[in-house]
Amino acid sequence: MRFNTSPRLRLLCTLCIFEAVKASESCPDYGDIRQPSVDPTVFNISDFAGTWYMVATTEPTLPAFCTCTRNEVSVHLPEGWYAYTAHTVCEGKFPISVPLKGKLSEDPRSPGLLHENFGLFNHTMPSLDPNMIFEARYDEQGRMQLAITYACLGRMLPLPPLGQPKFSFNILSRTTAWTKKELQDLVANVTSATRGLLDTSKIRFADQAVYDSCSQAIIV
Ligand SMILES: *[C@@H]1O[C@H](CO)[C@@H](O)[C@H](O)[C@H]1NC(C)=O
Ligand SMILES: *[C@@H]1O[C@H](CO)[C@@H](O)[C@H](O)[C@H]1NC(C)=O
Ligand SMILES: *[C@@H]1O[C@H](CO)[C@@H](O)[C@H](O)[C@H]1NC(C)=O
Repeated sequence: MRFNTSPRLRLLCTLCIFEAVKASESCPDYGDIRQPSVDPTVFNISDFAGTWYMVATTEPTLPAFCTCTRNEVSVHLPEGWYAYTAHTVCEGKFPISVPLKGKLSEDPRSPGLLHENFGLFNHTMPSLDPNMIFEARYDEQGRMQLAITYACLGRMLPLPPLGQPKFSFNILSRTTAWTKKELQDLVANVTSATRGLLDTSKIRFADQAVYDSCSQAIIV
């Protein structure tokens, strides 16, 4: 049996693929993905300070063999900036620490809309890349327990169009006590709440078992 693909059908398919590529290339607007949990009535960026475990990530600048990532965040509200050190363990043994820095939101209606630049890496975005805290969860005392972020990193190869724009989806948690299933459910929940606007392909999880496996790492 032979399928007869008309030129028009082929053109249509080419356009579909083109559209799909275009859609995944664009950075979503913060307004299109932000959840009620990051409304300024409940969300205060000062509460983002402290220790966060990166229990799920698509971070393209972090090699997949580096995991058990922990961010130590400081927030400088009056000065309008934040900084953090990302501690990660590569190949289960080698600890690496990377310092990062960014700008807090200047819009009091959108305190979760941050901007940062991985000074160490080559991005073609001329300025700071958006790093959006679009979802947060709190405990009964109102303390932030979960912060879910989406960053648009631009292209990382020196010559576009060779490099596709990169996105980074991250679940930051105050604890490592997660199972992979719980993390998968959380990602499914967040993906549906943001109506498929986020690229969560290539997601890697760091559940409790993964963090336990890094306990042999050389401590610095
Ligand atoms: C956020 O919390 C900080 C520190 O507790 C406080 O100084 C600041 O006024 C709060 N901001 C808002 C908008 O409530
Ligand atoms: C950034 O790009 C420049 C030129 O392409 C290169 O010389 C440099 O090593 C790159 N830096 C990093 C950290 O990759
Ligand atoms: C996500 O989970 C919460 C409960 O944790 C639920 O209230 C909400 O409806 C879920 N949202 C979606 C889009 O699945």
